[in-house]
Amino acid sequence: MMALPPTIAWSGTARDGHLELLDQTCLPQRVEVLRIGDVESLVAAIRRLSVRGAPAIGVAAAYGVVLGVRDAANGDAFHELLRSAGDALIAARPTAVNLPWAVRRMQAAGTHAASLDALLDEARAIHEEDRALCRAMGEAGAPLVREGATVLTHCNTGRLATAGDGTALAVLFEAWRRGTRFRVLADETRPLLQGARLTALELAAEGIPVDVIADGAAAGLIARGEVDLVLVGADRVAGNGDAANKVGTYGLALACHAHGVPMYVVAPTTTFDLGLEDGSMIPIEERDPAEVLTLGGSGIEIPEVGARNPAFDVTPGCLLAGIVTDRGIIRPVDADAVRSMIGG
Ligand code: MRU
Repeated sequence: MMALPPTIAWSGTARDGHLELLDQTCLPQRVEVLRIGDVESLVAAIRRLSVRGAPAIGVAAAYGVVLGVRDAANGDAFHELLRSAGDALIAARPTAVNLPWAVRRMQAAGTHAASLDALLDEARAIHEEDRALCRAMGEAGAPLVREGATVLTHCNTGRLATAGDGTALAVLFEAWRRGTRFRVLADETRPLLQGARLTALELAAEGIPVDVIADGAAAGLIARGEVDLVLVGADRVAGNGDAANKVGTYGLALACHAHGVPMYVVAPTTTFDLGLEDGSMIPIEERDPAEVLTLGGSGIEIPEVGARNPAFDVTPGCLLAGIVTDRGIIRPVDADAVRSMIGG
């Protein structure tokens, strides 16, 4: 298995450097690294999912703010670019709250920053902190994985979706490092196949046994008792624990609830949006219908037939066994428990 370059890296100085993104649209067939030197190219890369996953797009956007302001001719222009570059980055994708969270932190730093170098330092700090959050989630969640278990996961929540080991996949990597042996079922994750292309690649690289399944196979396998645990990530968690994640997650939660299989969301504190009372307020990205009408690069469309392509859905917190965070596990999931773990 080939070693992959970093998901996100900054190369060079704040003034002349650039962002390097592993282009995830090419995986697993080809390893290509994009060189990004301006905000417009970064917004396009985020939109087409060259860089994806809630924490990863937050980290990329933090560096994007540096790209956006570095050509300012004077102080007024700097503050105008700080605002407009931030707006453009936030608008790239609406569901993951890590994106506005990181941009606002950079804007706050920019308002007080003594130099462009200080702003790049802030982006590097966001990058480094995300690594630590991944480590902490892995440690908090690893005991959930039992010897011999079959664990089902959805979408990609690993090193390709974060700056560290991931969210749900960080739990699996840590359990494996501790010597627990288990196997994984990876939902393929139509329409863009993050499970089949990315999760399977990451797990296989660590020697963790993984089988890809069609998304529609999951409920039947759960009903037949072939799944012991479901671990997924989240793009935004509301104040009551309702969690938006890749479309298909809600269906998994219903199947788990019906058959008594524990399902956990794994998400860092940066993915919580305590300003939203419940999940009905989370904006859900609608993507190009062409993604649904394409399979492996070939068109499967029929004249006069359209498609819907919501990229995420919302799982009510009450269907979850818990939410694994970098601060510990929220269990049971309700507004009080979320507030006491995340609010302080
Ligand atoms: O559309 P994507 O590939 O960006 O969606 C990613 C997910 O849904 C992940 O589960 C989520 O970002 C959390 S994992 C880090």
